[in-house]
Amino acid sequence: MDLSVEFAGISIRNPTMLASGILGISYEVMKRVYDAGAGAVVSKSISVEPREGYKGPIIVKVDSGYVNAVGLANPGVDHFAQELVRYGYDKWGASGYYDHINSSDGEANNNGRSSSIIPLIVNLVGSSVDEFVSMVKRLDHLSIIGYELNLSCPHVEKVGLEVGDDPELVSRIIKGIRAVTTKPIIAKLGVGAVDMLEVARTAIDSGANAVTAINTIRAMVIDVETCMPVLSNKVGGLSGRAIKPIAMRCVYELYKAGVPVIGCGGVHDWRDAVEFMLAGAHAVQIGSAIGDGWLDVFREVNEGIRGYLARKGMKSVRELVGVAHNY
Ligand SMILES: Cc1cc2nc3c(=O)[nH]c(=O)nc-3n(C[C@H](O)[C@H](O)[C@H](O)COP(=O)(O)O)c2cc1C
Repeated sequence: MDLSVEFAGISIRNPTMLASGILGISYEVMKRVYDAGAGAVVSKSISVEPREGYKGPIIVKVDSGYVNAVGLANPGVDHFAQELVRYGYDKWGASGYYDHINSSDGEANNNGRSSSIIPLIVNLVGSSVDEFVSMVKRLDHLSIIGYELNLSCPHVEKVGLEVGDDPELVSRIIKGIRAVTTKPIIAKLGVGAVDMLEVARTAIDSGANAVTAINTIRAMVIDVETCMPVLSNKVGGLSGRAIKPIAMRCVYELYKAGVPVIGCGGVHDWRDAVEFMLAGAHAVQIGSAIGDGWLDVFREVNEGIRGYLARKGMKSVRELVGVAHNY
């Protein structure tokens, strides 16, 4: 049974990815996610300068998911690039990840550094063309497999959704990045003020290879005893099971519009993953489910997909993509 997927210049062993922001940027942790069965890992959003993020509380559990406002805390692009160099991402060159896995030297040690690098997509956040371009220039010599642009964080001013709601700025950012890299560019979109299909088409026309749908959706929680908003930022983003049907509709519409798409939002088990692929996703990202069941979810999803394909008499997970559009 073939679980490997190839789309938009990305080629991975199975269709599951760690969603951005869930487990930070420590390489050791990202490697554990890959060892637990993920096909690829997406880093937390990285910005030009380090960001402290908001004070606590930054996340609250609700009936059907989480509401978070972490504030895009990260150590900045220079620190992150150094972390990747420490683990051997500079050894194989800009397009080198696939050379690395095809090489007999793939698991060898490189002067004490592990060179068994994992397929990593770096998620970037910024507010201007210059910021995004400077980060890509800083990272592009490394053997990462692509960039995901966070154009949809719903709770931080001047970045995220404010950028994604401005198709003209999205176009300039993606054209700027395309001019300095040949790696896949994935635009991560959310539910904003501007129609997602319009932003997605703009992104693809400007040089993006695919879209991730969706990010968290603006939300809040109030404590009835203290009468206060629970999150320090008051407003955050809703993730988890609650947003799955909305994400499903977005993926369905994006596929119909001819946009290569990665589904994200509420994937907790193999059924959710299969549903996203039937709607048109080439792959799925998993975030909140890790808060509920830790990393076992990747193995469960992949084994479940394998069983499903066998029952349906299919040989490859790629046969699932977009099947719901036949009806
Ligand atoms: C605590 C937390 C932090 C997140 N941080 C980021 C981030 O830094 N960048 C980003 O693009 N998305 C971020 N997200 C959004 C997730 O990547 C994902 O789009 C969203 O949670 C929906 O997927 P899920 O329902 O599987 O969690 C974050 C989500 C959570 C719950």
